[in-house]
Amino acid sequence: MWTCVNGLNTLEERTSQMAGADSTARANVNVALVKYWGKRDTALNLPATGSISLTLEGLDVEAHVRFGPGDEDRLVIDGAEAAGDEARRLTSFLDLVRATTRRREAAAVVMRSSVPRGIGLASSAAAFAALALAASRAAGWTLDAAELSALARRGSGSAARSIFGGFVEWHRGERADGVDSFAEPLAPADHWDVRMVVAITSTTPKSVSSRNGMVRTAASPFYPAWVAGADADLAEARAAIRARDLEALGLVAEHSALKMHAAALATRPPILYWRAATLDCIHRVWALRADGVPAYFTIDAGPQVKVLCAAGDAPRVVAGLEMLPGVERVLVCGPGRGAEVIG
Ligand code: DP6
Repeated sequence: MWTCVNGLNTLEERTSQMAGADSTARANVNVALVKYWGKRDTALNLPATGSISLTLEGLDVEAHVRFGPGDEDRLVIDGAEAAGDEARRLTSFLDLVRATTRRREAAAVVMRSSVPRGIGLASSAAAFAALALAASRAAGWTLDAAELSALARRGSGSAARSIFGGFVEWHRGERADGVDSFAEPLAPADHWDVRMVVAITSTTPKSVSSRNGMVRTAASPFYPAWVAGADADLAEARAAIRARDLEALGLVAEHSALKMHAAALATRPPILYWRAATLDCIHRVWALRADGVPAYFTIDAGPQVKVLCAAGDAPRVVAGLEMLPGVERVLVCGPGRGAEVIG
């Protein structure tokens, strides 16, 4: 188990260095409390609903980008050459940056991730937030925070939220061109001393990516209800964050996660991200609550269980989860800062 607590400064302070032909940026993962699960436009990566998240300190990705001579992009992630879908996704994101900035050079990208990839720990959110910041600066493209968030969204929807620290809302937007679909901070990282306790129940890569999972869920008979309920959930979460009401936020977070998974389960063929240990964690969280520990779970596109609680209750939540069979590791993260330039 390790602990990480936040620091705080503005995007302007964090990006104040001069832009150049190469740039390094770092971004933290975020965990959605009101989920994004479905798109209104797949090409522009526009969500069917808004979503609200908490950025977590310490689970991060660093991206170094340099544009220069060469025929092909060179993409290295955690010391290995990127391949297949992962490489294609990165290259098409870089193509977008090149097209907008009228650059033709190849990119050399080196990424380092402190988050295991592809197991439902939001590594792509941190990766594309860091890449959007590093690539835009390396290309000499000056963006304000909302524009940077909209750019990150094109790489991965949840990355739009990792541009900011603390509690963040990503707006669905109404426009067909997507310019009004970006994230904004709701409350900074020091607004509320909560913790997210992450129980890792499996490090086997998930069999259905978020991207495919949400496309398939759109055919679920429960999908219209999922979309219809989002605005009410968002309003509840916004008010709970403002009032620092853990019970209200926790209950709407559980409701949102369970509805997302119910819709995915009811599609054909069904999508089930949970393992036996995932269910054991859910029951343990409910048992902790019955024992007077206010703790609330959320689950993304994978078997890990993320538990929201007050900072002072984190040790009891950890103790409750780490002894469960099938729980491989437990992490504790505090609210984190947004994406920042580090070189
Ligand atoms: C379950 O942002 O990874 O974590 O936009 O297709 O890249 P793409 O999807 P992605 O989906 C995240 C889904 C989620 C919920 C959430 O983060 O809101």
